[in-house]
Amino acid sequence: MTVEVRSARAAEIAPIVDVLRSSGLGANVGQLLRYPIASPTGDVLVALRNGQVVGGAAVAGFGATGWIGAVGVAGHARRRGVGRALTEACVARLRELGARTALLFATAAGRPVYERVGFEAEGPVRAWRDAAPPRGAPVGEGVRPLMAADVPAVLALDAAATGEDRSPVLEQMNGALTGLVVERAGRVAGSALRSPWGLGPSVVAADREAGVALLSVLRRVPGSPLTVSLPDANAGAVRALRAWGFQPINEAVRMRLGPPPAFDPDRVFGMYNLFWG
Ligand SMILES: CC(C)(COP(=O)(O)OP(=O)(O)OC[C@H]1O[C@@H](n2cnc3c(N)ncnc32)[C@H](O)[C@@H]1OP(=O)(O)O)[C@@H](O)C(=O)NCCC(=O)NCCS
Repeated sequence: MTVEVRSARAAEIAPIVDVLRSSGLGANVGQLLRYPIASPTGDVLVALRNGQVVGGAAVAGFGATGWIGAVGVAGHARRRGVGRALTEACVARLRELGARTALLFATAAGRPVYERVGFEAEGPVRAWRDAAPPRGAPVGEGVRPLMAADVPAVLALDAAATGEDRSPVLEQMNGALTGLVVERAGRVAGSALRSPWGLGPSVVAADREAGVALLSVLRRVPGSPLTVSLPDANAGAVRALRAWGFQPINEAVRMRLGPPPAFDPDRVFGMYNLFWG
C-alpha cells in the first residue's frame, strides 16, 4: 500500500476533519485545527492513499519545542503503518520549524505507535468536569480581569510552568485575549486564559494557592460546567478538584522525544487542550 504524507492543501482540510471525527477524536477537532492552520509555526499534515484522505495530524511549533496533535487514521486504513508515517512526518516538520523536542498527549491506541518512533512517556494528564454546584464563597482573593498590561507577566508565568515559549498562541488571540489574573503584592501570581481552541482555560500559577484561587472563581462563571485538563502530577490541584466534586472525563499520557523542557507540572492548573498543552 502506498501512502503519501505531506502538508495539507486548503481543500483537504474538510475531508481531514471528517476522518479525524470518525476516528474518535471528538466533535471539536475542527476547532482545534484552526490554530495550526492560522499559525505561521503550525501545520496540518494529510495521509493519502490512491488520492483519498485516510489520515491527518497537526503540529504547533514553539521554537525549541513543538507539539503533535489530532493524529487520526480512518478505521479501514489502520494497522498498516499510516499512524507511524504521520507521526514521523510530524516530527520532521517540527524539526524544520526549529524544534529539538517534540511533545504530545497519547491515547491508549496512540501510545505504542509513538513509542516505536522513540517517544517516552512522562506522566498522565486528565480532563476534569465540574459535577457539583459550588457552595460558599470562592477563595479568589486578588483575582481580577486580565488587562493588556498583564501580558508580559502572563508570558513569564507560562514559560516558568511549561519551559516553553508559547507566545505564538497569545499572538493568535490578537485583541480577543480574555481571562483572569490573581495579583499578590502588586505582582501577577497566576493567570487563566480563555481560548477558542479547547473546552477549558489555560491556567498557570506560581503556587497552589494562586492556581486554586483562579479555579475557584472560574467554576462560578455562569454557563456550562467548568472543564479543566491538567497533569496528575499537580497533586495539590487534583486534591482541590476532587474536594469540589469534579469528575475525571478523559485521560492521556504526556510523551516526549528529545531533551526535556523545564516543565513544572505543579504550576499547571489548566491546559489549553490535549493537543499543545
Ligand atoms: C492511533 C492511530 C492513529 C494509529 O494509526 P495506525 O495507522 O493504525 O498506526 P500504525 O499502523 O502505524 O500502527 C498500529 C499497529 O499496526 C501495526 N502495523 C503497522 N504496519 C503493519 C502492517 N503492515 N501489518 C500489520 N500490522 C502493522 C503496528 O505495529 C501497530 O501495532 P500495535 O497496535 O500492536 O502497536 C489510530 O488507531 C487512530 O486513529 N486511533 C483513534 C484516534 C487516536 O487515538 N489517535 C491518537 C491520538 S494521540
